[in-house]
Amino acid sequence: MILHDAIAPLVPVCPVVPLKEVTDQQLARYAELIYRRTGIRVSPQKKTLLSNRVRRRLRDTGIAGFDAYYEHLTRLRADDPEWDEFLQEITTHETYLFRDETHWDWFRAAFLPQCAAEARLGSRPYSLRIWSAASSTGDEAFTAACCIAACLPNLARWQIRILGTDIGVGAVAQAKAARFSQRAMRLVPKSYQTRFFDKDASAELWQARSVLTDLVAFRQQNLLEALGERPFDLVFLKNVLIYFDPASKQRVVQNVRSLIAPGGLLVAGPAEGIGDLLKDYVRLQAWLYQRPRKQ
Ligand SMILES: C[S@@+](CC[C@H](N)C(=O)[O-])C[C@H]1O[C@@H](n2cnc3c(N)ncnc32)[C@H](O)[C@@H]1O
Repeated sequence: MILHDAIAPLVPVCPVVPLKEVTDQQLARYAELIYRRTGIRVSPQKKTLLSNRVRRRLRDTGIAGFDAYYEHLTRLRADDPEWDEFLQEITTHETYLFRDETHWDWFRAAFLPQCAAEARLGSRPYSLRIWSAASSTGDEAFTAACCIAACLPNLARWQIRILGTDIGVGAVAQAKAARFSQRAMRLVPKSYQTRFFDKDASAELWQARSVLTDLVAFRQQNLLEALGERPFDLVFLKNVLIYFDPASKQRVVQNVRSLIAPGGLLVAGPAEGIGDLLKDYVRLQAWLYQRPRKQ
């Protein structure tokens, strides 16, 4: 493996020896590293979790200990693939389709009909741009695609772009594969399951059909950095900022705000805690904010 060859002279490589947990000092060093890269604050209570997750990178790279792996990471360029693997490992990717059903009830019963009415009246083009920020394995983006495919009249007339972005390379690869477990599919209405997905031979996974995959795209992106895209009509920012400190939240919200079109909407997760950073937006619901049309 290239990584092995590249690091062989630098770090001790040894047969797998059971490692205990990181020490408090190691935890603090890793936490600082993770914070600088992602904005996530790792609390001391996460010692076991962090140890388990770093241990998996030790196993995969063959690097002998927590300190050696830390030193290795700090020597790598920021775009080294091992950084991607590490970030994928230390972040939490829990997600499923139709998470927070209230949001999707609103999306189907209010948001899409309003877009359709505006397009009919000529006050907006037949175009819809949606961003699932921190999309994990794509479940949120595919939920939006299901609802659009099922509920938006004259779909063929519309230009739809649903973009999912996430810092985790593995999560993005999984999203691109468009396959979902039974567990991820548990809240998907039966009629959508049969219309928009095929069950694979083992009947364990559901493969999204092209009617959905044609609407979505995924790419890796760190929310602390700018996303080079045109503004979106609707942005989902859910279940990601919970472990971010105020300074990082502010950076993310600044990046996200710059990509919400005038009159566009932001759906926030229940624990995002960003209300104070959106005081100039209209708060339509506890979780729904609208950028004023004129600012
Ligand atoms: C718990 S999942 C949330 C997925 C989806 N939004 C939902 O609510 O179901 C959180 C995701 O945030 C991503 N994440 C964490 N820090 C990030 C950052 N700085 N930039 C982009 N994505 C990040 C993680 O990789 C993970 O996939």
